[in-house]
Amino acid sequence: MSEAYQRALNASIADRDAFWSEAANALDWITPPQTVYDTKEGWFKGGTLNTAYNSLDRHIAAGRGDAVALIYDSPATGQIKQFTYSELLEESGRVAAMLRRLDVKKGDRVVLYMPMIPQTVFAMLACARIGAIHSVVFGGFAALELAKRIDDAAPDVILAASCGIEGSRVIEYKPMVDEALELASHKVGHVVVFQREARRAELHPPRDLDWEELRAQSINDPIPSPETMASGDPLYILYTSGTTGTPKGVVRDNGSHAVALTWSMANIYGIGKGDPFWAASDVGWVVGHSYIVYAPLLVGATTVLFEGKPVGTPDPGTFWRTIVRHGVKSFFTAPTAIRAIRKEDPDATFLRDIGTGDLRAIFLAGERADPDTIGWLEDKSGLPVIDHWWQTELGWPAIASCFALGDLRRKRGSAGFPVPGYEFVVLGEDGQPVETGESGAITIKEPLAPGAFRSLWNNKPGYDRNFASFPGYYETGDAGYFDDEGFLHIMGRTDDIINVAGHRLSTGQMEQIVAEQDGIAECAVIGADDAIKGMIPVAFIVARAGAAEPAVLVRQVIAAVREELGAVAALKTAYVVPQLPKTRSGKILRNLLRKIVNGEEYLIPATIEDPAVPDLIRNALAAQETSAHG
Ligand code: COA
Ligand code: AMP
Repeated sequence: MSEAYQRALNASIADRDAFWSEAANALDWITPPQTVYDTKEGWFKGGTLNTAYNSLDRHIAAGRGDAVALIYDSPATGQIKQFTYSELLEESGRVAAMLRRLDVKKGDRVVLYMPMIPQTVFAMLACARIGAIHSVVFGGFAALELAKRIDDAAPDVILAASCGIEGSRVIEYKPMVDEALELASHKVGHVVVFQREARRAELHPPRDLDWEELRAQSINDPIPSPETMASGDPLYILYTSGTTGTPKGVVRDNGSHAVALTWSMANIYGIGKGDPFWAASDVGWVVGHSYIVYAPLLVGATTVLFEGKPVGTPDPGTFWRTIVRHGVKSFFTAPTAIRAIRKEDPDATFLRDIGTGDLRAIFLAGERADPDTIGWLEDKSGLPVIDHWWQTELGWPAIASCFALGDLRRKRGSAGFPVPGYEFVVLGEDGQPVETGESGAITIKEPLAPGAFRSLWNNKPGYDRNFASFPGYYETGDAGYFDDEGFLHIMGRTDDIINVAGHRLSTGQMEQIVAEQDGIAECAVIGADDAIKGMIPVAFIVARAGAAEPAVLVRQVIAAVREELGAVAALKTAYVVPQLPKTRSGKILRNLLRKIVNGEEYLIPATIEDPAVPDLIRNALAAQETSAHG
């Protein structure tokens, strides 16, 4: 263990307030906080600041206006563009002026439905500047999901792009926005559309405005000065999958978020002023919010915004090429991306030929990193590959090896150690800590570290549910154990959330959609193992008497999930089965279904209602696979 890590961990526990107070000094506060932690009001009470000012203006004021802030590298369109800190301030300030023209004020919500283009970053920073609360919706979500978020966030303005480019395909975004607005009860004032050359969208005035026209109109407007925000004021809302069909609107604050991200760059990723950093995620996810946009800019680094895929844009060498081209020092991606690269380039010839340039470490998160993938990547790259763990709710890593504190301990299959600021406890069903090596619910003792959520938007009740099972402890929803060397091993979720290609999805939500289709008596959706995506959803459906043919039902439910939830759900497999396996009390035995579909050995649980059902299901699956391939 590194001494620096141990010191930081001890300090964060022994004198939490001094530890975070020192971390907070890295930022420019308008009013310094009066207290570090207050049970009622959270972190940094009394402190005021502006996140966009801390991300842009202060670096310029310190003479670094010409340093590169953002590199847009888009194999999807063949463009590479750089923006210095001064240019990024000008561009985001211009969008802030556009929003001002539309009368967007502090506390108003702005929904963004935009792909991986610089305008998305401009827009996020513009909102932060004027104190509007942004809510970025991932482009892979369908209109109905977008509508749910619009109804919850009640934005005055939506910022959208005409299309996204996914690999070689153009995905039209604007029709999704139009449909979502028809589905939503909330009425928005304006939709501002950035027209991309790949596919221009039809605009419906007076609601729809052309981004460039509005920009031109506001060209002589002064850039709005940064709004004074209380530390606890919301910076953004990010919706994520919860255990109900309704998305969970995680609220991120301004002050503690900026403090936590700044600390993480220096102590986990080892990134500071002028260092190129790349998180190959999407701005629609928390990784994109934290590590494409805010964290690198808060520390004056250079961030890479990559519009492409790990493979196919144009080949499995694209990650290494991008890393070398921009001199990336720390790189963050999801294990699924590495599995996709490995599948196409098993001998890592691209990696060998291109190299990794100045790269010092590769960080993985978003889903379980299987030991085999980590081993392959370490072997081929010769670099430390650091698995680390966190969640949308927390906003930044909670389990990691703090690489920049010199902690390089790694064990394949473990996500590392508690990050200073987080006190992890593994609890049994009785709410008592389990023994080392024993698995239980992974919880975090209150208070959660700076940066973590303190509420859901509109004060939705879901927030308290996280603390309901174990009072005083936040239930992460993951199960796992500490081993005797202190490594924390994540074994999977305790709820119905699955991670598909690093995307967090709710099987419960998919079940609701499937169950509503004609001819479905009952259904279950589970996460099956997948060699590339880690997990994929698979639906088991029991047809009603007189329902359509199994093949028709299967097509219908797959289409419905895609239509209602979105392509990102990736539900491509469904089976019609005679019955679902259930306990005598009527609970569906999902683990058993998972084993059957994974082709694993299974024992018939003693609690099963009808022991013949598992074999009936296995036979039904075999028959449908034969007919699908025959
Ligand atoms: N906008 C619109 N559609 C999108 C989208 C977006 N931003 N992102 C994904 N989709 C669509 C895809 O086009 C695909 O549609 P299809 O079923 O018509 O092919 C579907 O959603 C599923 O996408 P995805 O899960 O990304 O699968 P894929 O086969 O297109 O790509 C990988 C597979 C492994 C290359 C890709 O999933 C990947 O790069 N994953 C890494 C994810 C990641 O970084 N997550 C961040 C968490 S840290
Ligand atoms: P998200 O909120 O989308 O970041 O998803 C968070 C969930 O992803 C966690 O609760 C875990 O279930 C899973 N997850 C994230 N990182 C890891 C990791 N390193 N290992 C295992 N699971 C992970």
